[in-house]
Amino acid sequence: MITVFGATGTTGAPLVDALLAKGVKVRAVTSDPAKLDKLKAKGCEAVTANFTDTAALEKACAGADRIYLVTPAHLDMRQWKANAIKAAKAAGVRHVVLATGLGASPKAGLTFGKWHSETQELLKESGLDWTFVQPTYFMQNLLWQAGSIARDGVYHDDLGGPVSWIDARDIAEVAAEALTGEGHAGKGYGLTGPEALTGEDIAAILSEVTGRSITSAPLAPDEAKAAMISGGMQDEVAAAMVELASIAPKGYLASIETTVSDVLGRPARRFRDFVAENRDAFVK
Ligand SMILES: NC(=O)c1ccc[n+]([C@@H]2O[C@H](COP(=O)([O-])OP(=O)(O)OC[C@H]3O[C@@H](n4cnc5c(N)ncnc54)[C@H](OP(=O)(O)O)[C@@H]3O)[C@@H](O)[C@H]2O)c1
Repeated sequence: MITVFGATGTTGAPLVDALLAKGVKVRAVTSDPAKLDKLKAKGCEAVTANFTDTAALEKACAGADRIYLVTPAHLDMRQWKANAIKAAKAAGVRHVVLATGLGASPKAGLTFGKWHSETQELLKESGLDWTFVQPTYFMQNLLWQAGSIARDGVYHDDLGGPVSWIDARDIAEVAAEALTGEGHAGKGYGLTGPEALTGEDIAAILSEVTGRSITSAPLAPDEAKAAMISGGMQDEVAAAMVELASIAPKGYLASIETTVSDVLGRPARRFRDFVAENRDAFVK
């Protein structure tokens, strides 16, 4: 049995699908009882547990050999993951595949890298087997502004430099392999897509795929932060997002990792294909 936390989320949902496709028994966890039926319809067990409820977390881990642990980007995410790691240990879980972020390490200089590193170190100290999946920006983030791209024909670029975007389905498939295969314990998997793209590159792909003229317009850090806060993100988390984006113009988010092809034996998905699959979202 594998327990998947964050099972309705951007990486958790395709992970449940990938594990079920491998014929593995899955227990999907949500904090929202209204989502249980949809999860069960996939063919897995489904339970509710909030990251604040240690007893429910332990129940969600009972009988599971391995778990996938992801939380949303949230000020409490270190405490939430600490609760889940404690519950996993108490329930007898052997191996935790932990979703963090590219660059997370004790040497990290940026807030997200430090936050994620704290949890990575905690998991190492727990004595459980661990694998870290450390992705860069998700291609799926583009869907956050699909409405305005469709309406105005403008891609708002808050990065201002090249980024090696990854498809969240590739993160999920690497996690699925780490959860079911051998030889992944003690590994930190930095994950990127196969190419680094600027805002202009993304606008060109959107234009080509939709047949519309879509331009890229820079989005200033203050505007980006305000947009994230108005979308429900906490102030400090939005500030950490803006801080991370600030290193893109220097080229620091452009590195390409070969982990997806190394682990899965096939190339990482390309941005153009992601846009083509989601074409309707970018058209009025
Ligand atoms: N987006 C990016 O570009 C990017 C890049 C690098 C790293 N990351 C990292 O990736 C992580 C986010 O991954 P993701 O996008 O897969 O996650 P996500 O979709 O943001 O969230 C996963 C799930 O967590 C559940 N959840 C929310 N609050 C909860 C609570 N209190 N208790 C239990 N479950 C709760 C939600 O499902 P329910 O409503 O069903 O409970 C949600 O679907 C963050 O740590 C972020 O820093 C993101």
